[in-house]
Amino acid sequence: MKNSDLKNFMFGVSSSAFQIEGAAQTGGKGPSTVDTRFVRPGIADTSVASDFYHHWEADIELLRELGVKAYRFSISWTRIFPDGEGELNQEGLDFYTKIIDRLLEYKIEPVVTIYHFDLPQKLVDQYGGWLGRETIYAYEQYAKTLFEAFGDKVKYWISINEPLMVMFSKDFNGIRDHEGKAYERANYQIMYHMALAEKLAFKWCHELVSDGMIGPASAFQNIYPASAAPADVEAAMAAEEILSFTLLDLSVRGSIPARIAHTLKKQALYPETREEDVQLLQSESADWICFNYYASLCAEAYSGKDDSNMPQFFRSQQYRIVPNPVGAKSEWMIFGTDPTGLRLSIYKLWQRYNLPLMITENGYANSDTLEEDGHIHDETRIGYLKEHLDECFQAVEEGIPLLGYSPWSFLDSLSGREGFVKRYGLVYVDRTDEDLKDLKRYKKDSFYWYQKLISDCNKK
Ligand code: BG6
Repeated sequence: MKNSDLKNFMFGVSSSAFQIEGAAQTGGKGPSTVDTRFVRPGIADTSVASDFYHHWEADIELLRELGVKAYRFSISWTRIFPDGEGELNQEGLDFYTKIIDRLLEYKIEPVVTIYHFDLPQKLVDQYGGWLGRETIYAYEQYAKTLFEAFGDKVKYWISINEPLMVMFSKDFNGIRDHEGKAYERANYQIMYHMALAEKLAFKWCHELVSDGMIGPASAFQNIYPASAAPADVEAAMAAEEILSFTLLDLSVRGSIPARIAHTLKKQALYPETREEDVQLLQSESADWICFNYYASLCAEAYSGKDDSNMPQFFRSQQYRIVPNPVGAKSEWMIFGTDPTGLRLSIYKLWQRYNLPLMITENGYANSDTLEEDGHIHDETRIGYLKEHLDECFQAVEEGIPLLGYSPWSFLDSLSGREGFVKRYGLVYVDRTDEDLKDLKRYKKDSFYWYQKLISDCNKK
């Protein structure tokens, strides 16, 4: 690879507000769905998490020491608007101002996710969350407030993290009173309303942030046919189209792919729309596509076989998702790892959308051990990150505008469902699910490895 290819490559690291901040009821913050959801006994909740809220200065020092050029983090919607809309909480805005200013002082580019799973609970209570059109406008007010406050400092914006997960996860969307077909219908209504909200954010970003870039962070599912049988190939195409491209097409092209729209209508799952939506959906488009990639999957033709061991959003009557037999599996990486799949995902996204790309999540979950001497030897994570980064470098060398790579995660943080037993961080946070200990930070071997890699690339 030519040295100049990586000159502007954004080596980053990622996190999200509810997974690291803690202080869930501090500083005027209101409750969100991730605070009110049911947490299994023995698993940590959002109240302390990694306590970034009280450690932010020391944590940003760690970012500086790591040498990253970008830090992707999210803003907590209810720290800015405790009720999701209406009255602004200045203390919340001040908190993020300090963070952004410090990052810029250290020449670390803030990459800001506006909304990462933490929907204001008040919006759920009042409007049914994303089922109500009111939430579209609450999100608009929130996003516009951020562009007004930070538009002169933050260039890179992510509208919504993983809309796919928000559609399907009750923990995130807060919809508890719909089951079966009614819930399935709700999933697509949520998708549609989020797409409209996102377009309003695009509009304001384009108006208020000069040279700003905004787009979604897709939970991109790279799906191979389980065999060369045409029925399996068709199943894999359908799965990718439903799980990944439908949402991205809404963000970029402003419409649901024709075949998917046809199927949703046939199944009485097509969302309720209004005529005036078309104009909004098609007038604004994403400037870049961020995506999160952990593993790949396979699909086989639907045969009615039991798939209850799969997450609900993978179950369908058009295909059957199965683990990729090729990837190496481990305790938490149950679908196996597949670095090549990351590069193939880059190709697929580039071919379909021709937009700059950024990898905003990629990481290895492990139950890491803090040794007595304070070290954490996470060589499997190093191997995982190295193999995936090599695939990124190949794509850059081939001329694809991949702007950066920001692994998950900076600090050990609250996992989506598993609390602190499942760790992804480059920095170890000394706590368990049930014992807060001292929350001290320890740099894992992967921290030093990434630091050296960034520094070596800078010297080239
Ligand atoms: C992504 C999310 O889906 O995966 C992160 O954007 C999440 O918030 C990450 O933490 C890993 O998932 P989990 O459930 O293992 O924490």
